Amino acid sequence: MVYQIYPRSFQDSNGDGVGDLNGIRQHLPYLKKLGVDVLWLNPIYVSPDKDNGYDIADYRQIQPVYGTFADFDHLLKEIHQNGMKLLMDLVVNHTSDQHEWFKESKKSRNNRYADYYIWRDPVDGHEPNNWGSYFSGSAWTYVPARKQYYLHLFAPGQPDLNWENPTVRKEVYSLMKFWLDRGIDGFRMDVINLISKPVGLPDAPQAAGALYGDVEKVVADGPKLNDFLQEMNQEVLSHYDIMTVGEMPGSTPQDAINYTNLAGKELNMVFQFDHVMLAANPNKKFGKWNDQPVSLLDLRHALFKWQKALDQKGWNSLYWNNHDQPRAVSRFANDDPRYRVVAAKMLAVTLHFLQGTPYVYEGEEIGMTNAHFTRLDQYEDLESLNAYHQFVEQQHAISGEKMLSYLANMSRDNARTPMQWDASQNAGFTTGDPWFALNDNYQQINVEQALKDKNSVFYFYQKVIQLRHQFEVIRDGNFKPLAENDLQVFAYQRQYQGKVLQVFSNFSSLTLKRDFIKPAGQLLIDNYNNDTKQTLRPYETKTYLI
Ligand code: NOJ
Repeated sequence: MVYQIYPRSFQDSNGDGVGDLNGIRQHLPYLKKLGVDVLWLNPIYVSPDKDNGYDIADYRQIQPVYGTFADFDHLLKEIHQNGMKLLMDLVVNHTSDQHEWFKESKKSRNNRYADYYIWRDPVDGHEPNNWGSYFSGSAWTYVPARKQYYLHLFAPGQPDLNWENPTVRKEVYSLMKFWLDRGIDGFRMDVINLISKPVGLPDAPQAAGALYGDVEKVVADGPKLNDFLQEMNQEVLSHYDIMTVGEMPGSTPQDAINYTNLAGKELNMVFQFDHVMLAANPNKKFGKWNDQPVSLLDLRHALFKWQKALDQKGWNSLYWNNHDQPRAVSRFANDDPRYRVVAAKMLAVTLHFLQGTPYVYEGEEIGMTNAHFTRLDQYEDLESLNAYHQFVEQQHAISGEKMLSYLANMSRDNARTPMQWDASQNAGFTTGDPWFALNDNYQQINVEQALKDKNSVFYFYQKVIQLRHQFEVIRDGNFKPLAENDLQVFAYQRQYQGKVLQVFSNFSSLTLKRDFIKPAGQLLIDNYNNDTKQTLRPYETKTYLI
């Protein structure tokens, strides 16, 4: 079980308002108590922070606001002493425009770093193709000194590395070894399925009314991706006893089987995106932005598709949320105070008993909710702010009010409010001025309160995690869908060496009766503490071990 820490927002130890490495170290006993096996830290390297660390200017230095190398080594040592492992974020589709490589590369067409990035001549005085950036606007920026455009799938401050250049690949392998030799236990690889660009960089499909083409459709899982990953495996990964997970927007199950197949020549597992891209806007030009709830039929279809396809062929990652997604309980269940606790517990069982490696994002284990911001000035994330400016102010495609409801539903900032430790000022996150606003509900929802209440979301997660550690059928069982057309109940079965596990979860606020629930064996876990057999109360989940 992997616990994700967004270092900026986890714990500030020195009062500067930003979370840091010593702050993480203070909470290792808490993480141990939860049952964490592996920690994943979002980027902590030197960065101008245009995209909160996903724009790296020096891969071999720690951003001073997070601490020193001595702090890092101290943290790593204590993580290991506590029997846990550490995954670092590897961001090598792009660097920062402040990285030395890019500063040199943009000076001329014939210096040592000239081909480290993807440069193209203008076509008819314009960008080389119609690609749009993930963060609004064109994916190309012009540099007069070279009379060329460079490619950035994300912000202009995040130029894409040229993976066709073998020297670039060697640089990447060398920085990976730098961290592995320091003793870390693996990598989460940022948008790693975008590194191989299609030959000739063809235009991407463009939705009606959209300013640019949808770049993911042509860039995801490019022609040389398997070659690059196999080379990386040969050069680096295979020499260490480590864990790897590739972030793969737009990948299909077949792609994932290629990367994570049991021969083990590439990666251990991937993050797929199908279940976090649901409720997409029917008006395609708005991309991911919408204010609709996710339907259970769609959610089940997405998750089951991956469960079925990878069974015995590859390996899934299981996640409801992370630093790029809204909070799970708000998005997939219900954060109304009447239901929040049972609903968060229901989500825990539903996800963790599937086949794959489960990930918990900081605060999920206490049922933290979306921020419910109502004004633009409450947002900080560049993706959210750029989308608002583009759709409302530039294109006049939507009202400001509607866009705010899209942001409230989908913005990454929902996940980035500081961790809620207690009911004191700033939720115990910092004694200073926090870099980002706290969620208003921290006096009701916080770790201190959760640890005092034996019925809290925290203790339920702890039990779910412990059950996965205990039962082979949860870790290794085959997957079988149940009740695949039910509109409110999510049900499935796992099976391993004669043991059967059946999970029934009510995703609605209604009380339901279902004949397909046939109570048998042992009630392994439920979130209401008594079994009403074929009845499921609002957001009830129950699991039988037969
Ligand atoms: C995915 C990361 O999770 C996200 O936070 C970041 O903005 C993009 N990749 C670009 O690095």
